[in-house]
Amino acid sequence: MKENIYLVGAGLTRFGEWWDKSLRQLIDEAIGSAIRSSNIDAREIDLVIVANMLAEITNNQATLGSLTSSLLPGRPAAMRVEAACGSGAVALHTATAFLESGRARTVLVVGAEKMTDVSNDIVSQALMGAADAELDLPSGLTFPGIFGLIASRYMYEFGLTREELSIVSAVHHRNAMQNPFAQFRVELTPEAVSKSTLVSDPLRLLDCSPISDGAAACILSTKHKSALKLVASQIASDTPSITQRATITSFPATREAFTKALGEASLERKDILVAETHDCFSIAAIINMEDLGFAERGEGVRVYKDLYEKRAPLFVNMGGGLKACGHPVAATGIKQLIDAGKHLTSAKARFGVTHNFGGAGTTCGIHILENTAV
Ligand code: COA
Repeated sequence: MKENIYLVGAGLTRFGEWWDKSLRQLIDEAIGSAIRSSNIDAREIDLVIVANMLAEITNNQATLGSLTSSLLPGRPAAMRVEAACGSGAVALHTATAFLESGRARTVLVVGAEKMTDVSNDIVSQALMGAADAELDLPSGLTFPGIFGLIASRYMYEFGLTREELSIVSAVHHRNAMQNPFAQFRVELTPEAVSKSTLVSDPLRLLDCSPISDGAAACILSTKHKSALKLVASQIASDTPSITQRATITSFPATREAFTKALGEASLERKDILVAETHDCFSIAAIINMEDLGFAERGEGVRVYKDLYEKRAPLFVNMGGGLKACGHPVAATGIKQLIDAGKHLTSAKARFGVTHNFGGAGTTCGIHILENTAV
């Protein structure tokens, strides 16, 4: 990276159903806690970037940049970015561009979503904005439907069984038990996942990330330092519609963004010990392991079997991932960076990656964080 960029503050709301808090209150809570966790004066924030996908539909609210800025002293310059569920990573990437160019020295990046104020039908339709309105919407697909197709195809190509797929959510739910910010802090057996309500064959309720409210905020700075340094920030794109892909059992945008990020940080895959990945559905978690190079094609579930047996040399989604921590869509990419920093510190590990995508791998953002205290 062209500048040394440090993660100097971080704040989260608990993810879940917040019927007694507005979107503004969730943002205020996350940014307040990010500022308190840092050693900086809020007046030093010279830019605010807000990640959000759905607020016009779920909260009748646009202009989230100025809304967030108005919660801060001095009302810094502000903007909003959107890349569906990948909005958080794209907001972080935008922040790094400002910091590297010198146009800003301390940037507050906040992701927020309040999805439970409208019915699940409305939110499912709104989430389909992350697909292709001309090619996908007329088929009646929803995201559980799209990932149900991906899971069917993957099982056909690689022989993954229903029982193996269920291990993924069992791992994520176990990890969430230690996370006070998680939506679901309940341990699950793989059998319970296999027996949960069918949503979109072969995917069941407990294969799916939930509908969530929540906000995550972090402060990135070239002026102030911390032990956590950003060493890569990359994004890559693919077609919004899976009908235009050569394969639906791998996401090339992940491979491209991660390869570029490793190059930017001059690292190899084996240097990464902590990974926060975009497990919007259990099948995505398995494909992510392969696209990130932690497993060969068709063998991603092996990593989850090792995680389940506590013999994996890798820390994956230690806060519970999207499945158990929750998925307020645009907040997720920022929450992942915060979680990566937390687990790098507690595991005394040096490098961690965050992998956040929008749609079915349509936009992928990768960040690599270094714990310089190790
Ligand atoms: N995991 C665990 N429990 C869940 C859950 C999930 N994903 N989703 C809902 N629940 C629970 C609820 O808490 C509720 O429990 P309760 O009865 O004890 O209160 C119960 O299941 C029913 O909840 P409800 O909201 O009526 O479920 P639903 O059937 O309307 O929605 C899904 C379930 C899976 C369809 C919905 O969560 C969904 O669409 N998830 C995917 C979201 C998505 O596409 N995100 C973008 C990814 S790219």
